[in-house]
Amino acid sequence: MAIERVGVVGCGLMGRGIAQVCAQAGHATVVSEINDDLLAAGMASIEKFLGKGVEKGKISEAEMQSTLGNLTGTTDLANFAGCDFVIEAATENREMKLEIFRSLDEICDREAIFGSNTSSLNITEMAVATGRPDRVVGLHFFNPVPLMKLVEVVSTMLVDDSVVGEVKAFGEGLGKVVVVARDRTGFIVNRLLVPYLLGAIRVLDEGLATMEDIDQAMKLGCGYPMGPFTLLDLVGIDTTYYIANIMYEEFREPQFAPPPLLRRMVLAGRHGRKTGRGFYDYSE
Ligand code: CAA
Repeated sequence: MAIERVGVVGCGLMGRGIAQVCAQAGHATVVSEINDDLLAAGMASIEKFLGKGVEKGKISEAEMQSTLGNLTGTTDLANFAGCDFVIEAATENREMKLEIFRSLDEICDREAIFGSNTSSLNITEMAVATGRPDRVVGLHFFNPVPLMKLVEVVSTMLVDDSVVGEVKAFGEGLGKVVVVARDRTGFIVNRLLVPYLLGAIRVLDEGLATMEDIDQAMKLGCGYPMGPFTLLDLVGIDTTYYIANIMYEEFREPQFAPPPLLRRMVLAGRHGRKTGRGFYDYSE
């Protein structure tokens, strides 16, 4: 079965990017939010991103219009009936995600495939919340979704191999490079990235160097596109804290333990670019 019609649950930072790349690849795409205001904000941001793409000469006006034409917004999950593949990109909250999967299981055809964009929760638990654990995978995109080339496809011990193959082909059809990982918290990228980011916070807190110098060192010394503090502000300080806690709970290894400064940043409301202040100040 080729995946044609796609559903994306959530039109936040990740969901809007996922919906955009699906629509841009020619899929009829339904994207949902919990209320009209959040949906309108997500849709406006997709239009703005595409508009910038036209300005930069990356896409044509016609491509922008056909992408927008492939997109439908909804606040009702019932509109996912008829989707071949539904990608859940809701808030990183375990109970909420399980509830979404239970609802989707009732709404969608038995043959529909479900994917979760979770970065840290367990795919097996989501799979068994449905009556189709053989058709549930992880599909983890990276921020900013339209620009980042990678997608991790996550297979569980319950999934059918042919489903992993179909989702892999779908990811490649979006123009992404697909890697496959087993269902272990953090998959490949966050398993290695999170200890690095937490390590940067620890050495800053111990006074090893300024955050500007740590960022410069990792950018120019390792050829990374961004230093760790710029990346933490992009990913979100609250998101990183949340992921670190879940990884620590799973592996019980000190490298995943959230450092005290990270917790203070969360409590202080310095959540990164999205709040105008993280390690750096974005108020201007
Ligand atoms: N439409 C189309 N193309 C666009 C565009 C738009 N609206 N905006 C930018 N682009 C293009 C640019 O033209 C440019 O293309 P070329 O390379 O061909 O010139 C390219 O995209 C890069 O854009 P910019 O030059 O504006 O920006 P940049 O060079 O500073 O790169 C970045 C930005 C891609 C974000 C880069 O800094 C980067 O890769 N940073 C690291 C991000 C990262 O690590 N993300 C992963 C976070 S971890 C995560 O997400 C997982 C998790 O679970 C927490």
